[in-house]
Amino acid sequence: MSFTAQFVNYFTQVQASEGWDRVLASFARFLAPDQKAHVLDVGCGPGSLVRRLASEVALACGCDADHGMIEQAQQLAHEAGLRNVEFRVGALPDLPYTPDQFDGVTATNVIFLQRNPAVAVKDMARVCKPGGIVAMLNPSPQMNVAAATAHADKHGLVEFNRVSFVNWGNAAEQNHRFSEGQITEMFEVAGLSEIAIEAKIGGLALFAKAKKLTR
Ligand SMILES: C[S@@+](CC[C@H](N)C(=O)[O-])C[C@H]1O[C@@H](n2cnc3c(N)ncnc32)[C@H](O)[C@@H]1O
Repeated sequence: MSFTAQFVNYFTQVQASEGWDRVLASFARFLAPDQKAHVLDVGCGPGSLVRRLASEVALACGCDADHGMIEQAQQLAHEAGLRNVEFRVGALPDLPYTPDQFDGVTATNVIFLQRNPAVAVKDMARVCKPGGIVAMLNPSPQMNVAAATAHADKHGLVEFNRVSFVNWGNAAEQNHRFSEGQITEMFEVAGLSEIAIEAKIGGLALFAKAKKLTR
């Protein structure tokens, strides 16, 4: 199996797991989109959050830098019989969308991987309409392999759920772990206000959202 296929299979399994499904359900509630909204999930992977949001909004779009992820997301949305979804290949910080296009722009477990996260958040804000919401989920400064292992022990995570959760701790150690202050600064630099940040998953993740200023 090619590396790309392994990458797609791994995140398909993560998104199909009960634990991550619960996290994305909680994130969708945090976003709380309007029924008429057009939303974009950046770095959607196999598209779980897009499929979930499709039942709540008028149009749910997903984009990902990886072509294989988008093919998988299209296939899974087709199998689910969804019509109000659109997927395309596209990467931060140069998203293939026009300015002010979406009522909500999300990125779960994506911004912490970026070489220049502030520029990435700015591009999310660019494609968000004035009055719309930019929201993201990232590992918190407390997330690491030891903390993820302790969380897995406490909650009885086994097999793939345990391995993938500890892998997330490892990924967090090797990438960004933004503090609430750093998230606030990135949002403000991107012209976003009304910032709300909530610690989740026993404090190992931060959900954050902010509103784009109306003109
Ligand atoms: C850790 S996975 C998270 C997938 C999904 N958002 C979730 O929470 O289940 C990161 C995803 O972001 C994508 N990605 C990473 N950097 C990106 C970028 N600069 N622009 C768009 N997608 C990106 C990867 O291809 C991958 O599908």
